[in-house]
Amino acid sequence: MAPRILALSGSSRRESFNLKLLELAIAGAKSRGAEVTMVSLVDYELPVYESDWESEHGLPEAARTLQKLVSENHGLLIATPEHNGGYTSLLKNSIDWVSRPDPYHRAERPVFPGKVCAMISASPHATGGLRSQLALDMVLHRLGMLVVPTQFHLGYAHAAFDAEGQLTSSATAAMARHVGATLVDVTCRLIDGHYSVLHRDGADNERTDAN
Ligand SMILES: Cc1cc2nc3c(=O)[nH]c(=O)nc-3n(C[C@H](O)[C@H](O)[C@H](O)COP(=O)(O)O)c2cc1C
Repeated sequence: MAPRILALSGSSRRESFNLKLLELAIAGAKSRGAEVTMVSLVDYELPVYESDWESEHGLPEAARTLQKLVSENHGLLIATPEHNGGYTSLLKNSIDWVSRPDPYHRAERPVFPGKVCAMISASPHATGGLRSQLALDMVLHRLGMLVVPTQFHLGYAHAAFDAEGQLTSSATAAMARHVGATLVDVTCRLIDGHYSVLHRDGADNERTDAN
């Protein structure tokens, strides 16, 4: 079975460094035989998550669509820009909505547990979005995902790309591709033998009404 990877970025900026890096990681994933679906989170219009809004209106259609996409894929490849030492509100808001149960299908299991995930980031600052990855890592674990340890953060991103949007350093490009390739290698091992075990363990993270 070809591993299926959902790729997304926390940036919606037109000239996003993170998006450019994500494209390289996607190439790495495809080089290992993955089927990759890339989505742009701004295409899924979601209000800022708010419990009263959810009680009144239920789960937005866009959240349901994203949930379906997550559930149809084995792994997630996430480019995560850094905003004020964390990850972006676009990414957090999307994750929060996708983590919610559909009130009309409460028997359905949450979609995140058991997914394999890899992160990359880019920033004009020296640390390259590392803090964003650290903050997101905690959330992904909380949601029951397996985060692969191979990560890459690109510092001084404003100086790393040429006018055509290509990385000027082939070694740097190789590191970004490696993240995608490693995600697929790990995912393949899990879906070949142990994925169902991982997925069942993930059910331990199913929410209660208390959260
Ligand atoms: C509100 C805001 C906060 C930011 N905070 C940080 C930060 O804490 N660390 C950092 O490295 N860059 C920070 N930046 C700069 C972003 O890394 C930069 O805008 C980057 O280009 C965003 O990624 P993108 O190019 O993929 O859109 C911040 C930018 C904004 C708009």
